[in-house]
Amino acid sequence: MRIEDANIVAALPDLGVELGRGASLAELTSLGIGGTTDLLRIKNHESIASLLNLLDSGGVPHRFLGGGSNLLVGDGELPWVVLQLARPNPDIVLEGNVAHVDAAADLGRTVTYCAKHDLGGMEGLIGVPGTVGGALRMNAGAYGMQIGSYVREVKLYRAATRKIEILRGEQISFEYRHTSFAPDDMMLAVKLELPSKPYKEILQGIRICNEKRRSSQPLGQKSAGCIFKNPPGASAGRMIDELGLKGLSVGDARVSDRHANFFVNAKKASAKDMLALVAGVRERVHWAFHVELEHEVVIWNA
Ligand code: EPU
Repeated sequence: MRIEDANIVAALPDLGVELGRGASLAELTSLGIGGTTDLLRIKNHESIASLLNLLDSGGVPHRFLGGGSNLLVGDGELPWVVLQLARPNPDIVLEGNVAHVDAAADLGRTVTYCAKHDLGGMEGLIGVPGTVGGALRMNAGAYGMQIGSYVREVKLYRAATRKIEILRGEQISFEYRHTSFAPDDMMLAVKLELPSKPYKEILQGIRICNEKRRSSQPLGQKSAGCIFKNPPGASAGRMIDELGLKGLSVGDARVSDRHANFFVNAKKASAKDMLALVAGVRERVHWAFHVELEHEVVIWNA
């Protein structure tokens, strides 16, 4: 979608919003799939309410994009514009055991930055791509830990109240790959309270997690991480593997040979191909195990 209304376009610079015409979501997502639309990069949290009022008054629908690492976007010209926070500098400020982190900060860099200052706990998240905001929204986790455990406070834009609000950690529920945030809440910043640990010890944990990840996941390939959530007490990857579906393809969309819950874009897969592969695998798992797998990846298809 292109913003045609000249009044909207003219108002953007004063709001600290940068307009990228016809951005390719394939270039903004780790899966490398997705059509084109206008991209609005927000440099100032305080202008979000005015920006959304402006878009609403012009009838321009929007979606919030984080780091694009857990996202499958539809093909062609997309029927909404995309909003993304610009990363401030600095994006992490430490105060004792509390890290004040902007939602646009890179998750991996946040883990290593805190580690270098003897703050641990998040070792398992090393190698999880994306932003801190995206990790918060999904309650990203790996190797027995989840980011929600360290959240002291979240600053977010609440679409329901059209205001910036601060929530304390206890006001948010963090479950397996799920949080109590509303779908249209926009994460802005977080205070993480992290345990003190010597850098060397954290580094050792980071190395172990990196090694485990490298040996079991297709890291060099375009993917959105795990496609399905694990059903209670079971592993989606193991089930898909047991059905012999590694390597199954639709066009260039392919079930990874390394980890069956990773679906990779081998070259130029379309969203149509990837969605067909996801639906096909889901159906076979249902047929064989009587389990309805839930998508872990977020799907923006129209
Ligand atoms: N397995 C197979 N074949 C496969 C893949 C896995 O038999 O192709 C088996 C493994 O041998 C193991 C079991 O299934 O016995 C579980 O596999 P793994 O340890 O790789 O963990 P997972 O449950 O598949 C979860 C998360 C990952 C996270 C890892 C490490 C989900 C859906 N996946 O994977 O998160 O990195 O644990 O903690 O919760 C993601 O969120 O995108 C993601 C990749």
